[in-house]
Formats: sequence, structure tokens, C-alpha cells
Amino acid sequence: MMGTGTFITFEGGEGTGKSTQARRLAEYLEAKGETVVLTREPGGTASGEIVRRIVLEGGAEPLGVLAEAVLMNAARSDHLEKVIRPALNAGKTVICDRFSDSTIAYQGIVGGVDLDLLKQMEAVIVGDTAPDVTFVLDAPVSQTLLRARRETNRTSGKGATPDRFEKQDKTIHEELRKAFLAIALQAPRRVHVIDATGTPEDVFARILQVYGKVAEKAA
Ligand code: TYD
Repeated sequence: MMGTGTFITFEGGEGTGKSTQARRLAEYLEAKGETVVLTREPGGTASGEIVRRIVLEGGAEPLGVLAEAVLMNAARSDHLEKVIRPALNAGKTVICDRFSDSTIAYQGIVGGVDLDLLKQMEAVIVGDTAPDVTFVLDAPVSQTLLRARRETNRTSGKGATPDRFEKQDKTIHEELRKAFLAIALQAPRRVHVIDATGTPEDVFARILQVYGKVAEKAA
């Protein structure tokens, strides 16, 4: 851990409700008096948002999945330097909607980029600034795909074009789900799998239960 702040990340497939839960946790911790920086990847800085647009609109597709991983890491490096590390060093809590586990899941386990190479990139870019706690939101793909479609319609208008990841077929989403579960198995102390079925209130209650235990141990 870098400074004194706590670094929390949310991970999972599309439509698992990560963004909603990240926002809820931010509001909850702020109400308890913490200063929280809520951010996301790809994105979080001006250049990160450019990478986000290029990748989500399919502009990086012709370059291949390794280039996509490099772009994600470039954006991450900027994000860490300009937003995450300064906030942690100032004692703030940082909540990030997706982080380096997404690169391992999407570009590595599912995309086929060599995992050792991705881990080396991660070691260079992330270094000591690994998350203290990661929540992997997990739900059956039949449910999460429905949610992802509704979300696209809500934010971009009915019948909006799904982004490049949402267009992929169901098997890829099943593979992603397994990928995040595998990541959780490999880092059981950091990564907590949260059952993301049920209402947002149900899911948030599960997150708080785990977070309470983690915070107790850290105290
Ligand atoms: P986003 O809208 O944040 O996804 P979601 O709605 O599921 O939260 O879009 C981010 C997309 O970028 C998502 O499909 C996952 C993908 N991604 C990667 O492929 N690699 C990465 O390293 C990151 C951070 C995201």
C-alpha cells in the first residue's frame, strides 16, 4: 500500500452493477466522514478518457488485443500518477470502477495475451499501488446481459449501439465471469466475490458485510 488512504476496486463482467455499487460505497464512506475519490478505468484522467473512447468505440480493434492491453496500461499509468497516488498519499479513500484485474480478465484470460507479460506490465505500472480490497461482482450471464442492455438504452437512448464489449456473444461473457472468479481464487485475501443477484440494496448489504470484516482486520 502506498500512502495512508485505502484503495478499493470494483470488478466483474458487464451489467453486474459495479458502477452503482461503487457509487453507493463512496456515498456511505463519505457519510462516515471519509474523503472519497470515485473514479473509473479506462478513464479517470483526460488522456484516460481518450483511451476509453478509442477502445470502446472499436478504434483500437485493428491494432489487436496486445495493443489494447498496452493502451489500458498507458491510461492506468497516467491515472495512477495524476489521481490515485496523490489521493492515497493525502489519506483519501480511492474507489475505482475497474482496474488492473480487468486487463488480466479481458485482454489476458479471454483475449489471449500472455499472462506473464501482462503481469510484468502490471508490476511496472502499478508497482506498490495494488488495491487493498477488490470486490468482484458475480451473477449469471443471463441476468447481467439483460442489465447491460437496459443500461445502454438508459444512458445512450433506446436502441443505442452497444459498445464493442457489449456486442460480444454470450460465451465470451461466460468466459469473463470465469476469468474474474479465477482471479479471485488466486488472490483470496485481496479479492472478494460478491453475489450480485437480487436488488441493489441486497448487493450493497453483502458488500458492507465483507468490507466491515476487512476494515476490522486492518484496524
Ligand atoms: P464500462 O462501460 O466501464 O464497462 P461496464 O459497463 O461493464 O462497467 O466499459 C469498460 C470496458 O472496458 C469494459 O467492457 C471492460 C473493458 N476493459 C478492458 O477490456 N480492459 C481493461 O483493462 C479495463 C479497465 C476495461
